[in-house]
Amino acid sequence: MSSDLHTGFNEREYPHINRGLDGIVAFSTTKSFIDGKVGDLIYSGYHIDTLAEHATFEEVCFLLWNDRLPNTEELENLKQKLISQRQLPEAVLSYITTTSKDAEPMAVLRTAVSMLADSDATFGKYDESLFMDQAIAITAQIPTIIASYDRARKGKEIVAPLKEGSTAFNFLYMLNGEKPGKQAEKTMDLCLILHAEHGMNASTFTARTITATMADMYSAVTGAIGALKGPLHGGANTAVMNSLLELSKQGEDADAVAFTKKKLDNKEKIMGFGHRVYKVFDPRGFHLQKMAKALSEETGHEKLYRWSMDMLNTMKSEKDIDPNVDFFSATVYYSIGIQPDLFTCIFTMSRISGWTGHIMEQAANNRLIRPRALYVGEKNLDWVPVEKR
Ligand code: CMC
Repeated sequence: MSSDLHTGFNEREYPHINRGLDGIVAFSTTKSFIDGKVGDLIYSGYHIDTLAEHATFEEVCFLLWNDRLPNTEELENLKQKLISQRQLPEAVLSYITTTSKDAEPMAVLRTAVSMLADSDATFGKYDESLFMDQAIAITAQIPTIIASYDRARKGKEIVAPLKEGSTAFNFLYMLNGEKPGKQAEKTMDLCLILHAEHGMNASTFTARTITATMADMYSAVTGAIGALKGPLHGGANTAVMNSLLELSKQGEDADAVAFTKKKLDNKEKIMGFGHRVYKVFDPRGFHLQKMAKALSEETGHEKLYRWSMDMLNTMKSEKDIDPNVDFFSATVYYSIGIQPDLFTCIFTMSRISGWTGHIMEQAANNRLIRPRALYVGEKNLDWVPVEKR
């Protein structure tokens, strides 16, 4: 067994295979740092706890796109640009209102983001000097796509975006048709901050891989949305909620401990637990847990928090596995009235900032991403004519 990191593997010898690219360092980045042993997360120099306490989502976008915090004028400028780009092109609105009402919101979001390229004056072509404006436009339009589709599928009138207010405020307004209170805006803003960036996760890796071929930013973001959709990645928050809703069918006294143990006995994964990098409690989870407790009590969903804690304790004692970011975010979103199948869309609305930061970083120092695979099939088979197979 041998492999050579510098020249690639020898085709005739058996190389070491890192399944799932576990532990492979493929890039250097200034976007985020994760210490999975102690549970630390830093975005471009700032600890997640510091950002959770002080920042707004718009400041985090600027940080991830420029590797520094904005001054007052720069922040105002970015906010105004985001506000001015919130409207959707007619073709995208028409798609949203005519597509199936039973479609998965993440599938609609993926298609709509791809369509945005056609309405971009540059047709979304690959040009580094356009990337910042494209990042701002996509970040501004994703919340409008999500809210518009949710209303369209429910037969409600689409609410046009506001010409003022934060991303969080405007999103809740477009979704519910009424302006949110301070607390709801703050909760949504904090969720956006906590999900914005997270190293070389599957969707970010996808975005960088597509960018490395010199395909455009819309293609990279569309691919990233496809990767985020899966239940092992961003789709886990919806899956967590489905587990909690399954439990609620058993009534107020549902036994979350027995539910969890039964799934483990059946060798099923418990959604919202485990992580490739964190081997301790996910630092974003602390903030979400605090919010989940307070919001579930305020909104009469205490049982969701109680069951979540029973699941958490069972996973700790049975498997020594901690919850990840998706676990408590499910209760938070549900408590503020968001439908479970929109949870991953909200993750997208936030992670677009990290993806586009990585896309710009990849383009600035590009090399095609092209790993190898070990061929384990047969060789030198004799050709058999089709009628004899
Ligand atoms: N439930 C039960 N067992 C688990 C779980 C889980 N959620 N996660 C890991 N394990 C076990 C796994 O069965 C394996 O056990 P064994 O060694 O006995 O076979 C061991 O822990 C190692 O797991 P793994 O699947 O090799 O770990 P991985 O790094 O390949 O996968 C993961 C990481 C996140 C895909 C996995 O933990 C998982 O499927 N979790 C559930 C889905 C989920 O919550 N995903 C969200 C991920 S974090 C946020 C995000 O990306 O959106």
